[in-house]
Amino acid sequence: MIILGICDSIDSHACLIKDGKIISAISEERMSRMKADTGYPEKSINRVLEVSGIKSNQIDIVALAGYDNGLFDSITKPAALFTIQDWIEQNEKYWKPKLYQNKKLNEIDNFKIWLKKYPKILNNPYKELVKKTSNKNVKKHLNIYNEVRKKVICKHLGVDKSQIKVFRHETCHQYYGLFSQQQQKTKSLILTIEGGGDDSSATISIGKKGNIKEVYRTNDAMIGRLYRFITLLLGMKPGQHEYKVMGLAPHGQEYHGKKSLKHFEKFNKISGHKIFKKTVFKDIYFSSRKELHGERFDGIAWGLQTCTERFLKKWVLNCIKKFKIQDIIISGGVAQNIKAIKYLLDQKKVKSIWSGPISGDGSLGIGAAWLATKKFDKKNKVKKIDHVYFGSEISNAEIEIYIRKKCKNFKILKNVKNKQVAQWIANGLIVARCKGKMEFGQRALGNRSILADPRKQESVERINSKIKYRDFWMPFTPSILNEHINKIIHNPKKIYSPFMTVAFDTRKKFINKIPGVIHPADKTTRPQMLKKNINPDYHDLIKEFYKITNIPLLLNTSFNLHGDAIVENADQAINTFIKSDLDILLLNNFAIIRRTKKE
Ligand SMILES: [Fe+2]
Repeated sequence: MIILGICDSIDSHACLIKDGKIISAISEERMSRMKADTGYPEKSINRVLEVSGIKSNQIDIVALAGYDNGLFDSITKPAALFTIQDWIEQNEKYWKPKLYQNKKLNEIDNFKIWLKKYPKILNNPYKELVKKTSNKNVKKHLNIYNEVRKKVICKHLGVDKSQIKVFRHETCHQYYGLFSQQQQKTKSLILTIEGGGDDSSATISIGKKGNIKEVYRTNDAMIGRLYRFITLLLGMKPGQHEYKVMGLAPHGQEYHGKKSLKHFEKFNKISGHKIFKKTVFKDIYFSSRKELHGERFDGIAWGLQTCTERFLKKWVLNCIKKFKIQDIIISGGVAQNIKAIKYLLDQKKVKSIWSGPISGDGSLGIGAAWLATKKFDKKNKVKKIDHVYFGSEISNAEIEIYIRKKCKNFKILKNVKNKQVAQWIANGLIVARCKGKMEFGQRALGNRSILADPRKQESVERINSKIKYRDFWMPFTPSILNEHINKIIHNPKKIYSPFMTVAFDTRKKFINKIPGVIHPADKTTRPQMLKKNINPDYHDLIKEFYKITNIPLLLNTSFNLHGDAIVENADQAINTFIKSDLDILLLNNFAIIRRTKKE
């Protein structure tokens, strides 16, 4: 059975599953080049069909994630389109009069503000929604929204409406967590925690033998929403830059953050496994702006992260006590907080913790497709994943075309071996590697990566200042040969983390050896643990680097410029190479070389 999974909320994407196995998955942002793209993922649907060699008339079921993604969000695409000023304007023009001045405003009024500012947003498959909801009877809007979505899918793919199955947002998160789990457990406690889904911001379920039973849900968990609005207050983009606030937090100190922490702790209380809202404030943005006026930015980040960690610790430990299960799966936006995951893992009562490769909404389509497999494909079981190389590949023919077109000023080498590439990196050169299938999700795991020598602080400085224009406080991450992992990190619970979703304490004797991939403030590192069978060629490259340097890891950051989506094809890779200060671009076994002094 062929199932197409679609997510049309934030980080929209498409995936194809054949007989229970994922055969391709691509995020819309890679195709549209609009980071955090939102809405109907037409381009990525076309691309997953193309790379899989499947025609739309072969699709048996379309699995659509979520019933309620915000009525107009798939048209306005706030996480992708809005500037920081737009987010502030939305709070001032819509939320302030609605919450504080008792003005009767609804989603249509909000939408009108953005339609006026960005009239092009109507170039959208869901534009019919605007006309159909022009009256103020908002009660019927959700039905109209879902009808429009189905209509667009039927028109695009030629499928019948009866083939489209819609799955609840939170349930997609739960199944994604369960089926992406790498170290299988007989019983797991599955928690979702996020800004909001179809009906809740936190759920508790029991997972057993591929089945899930939800035992608790609430829409009162505020931690995901807090993170979103505080990201904005700190001058960064909500829905995109929460990880930067998390990265900033260890630079802050209690002295500067205690007032913020006290403020954040006023939003929720936990009693047993249940989460309750404290109604101290009318909203997050305005109350926090007022309460935290004059507070230092690093202290605010520290306070927020500390609040998140304490909140999760209390909730998770209470859940363990209540349900007597110590193996945890955590999904939803807050599960992307790798520092909090580490903090949970450090708790004695937590035996193991799993957060999938993309635990936010960027994987809902996969969760939906797995749910559809479970429900409708009676012949096949969901086949577990051990990697995320589900995207497109670059052909040598394509590479040769773009080399001829765009690379006249560079030196070109063919049939380059890993030994040579490892030597370049050890000599201090910065290499972008585009080889094999593109990764699905926000992280580059070697195939669309910028690679550098982790021993050299100057590599970090060059990547930050001349290549990626990254924020100075954000650490880089390593790809580590799995067979050497215990030398580098403390991992007493033997967690296998192949997708960079957990931070670990670095062993003392390595902290000074690999400064390029250590968080400068808390000395943690967030590895991709790389087994040979998962990506043999990338593994071999790191092995060659190890032979030269005695260091079994490389600095690995995604191959994109600041604010851009990660590159997909040869054309984008070469354009990015030209615009940046990268030394070498590796496209399959071709090397495009800018400088030669350290070769
Ligand atoms: Fe979600």
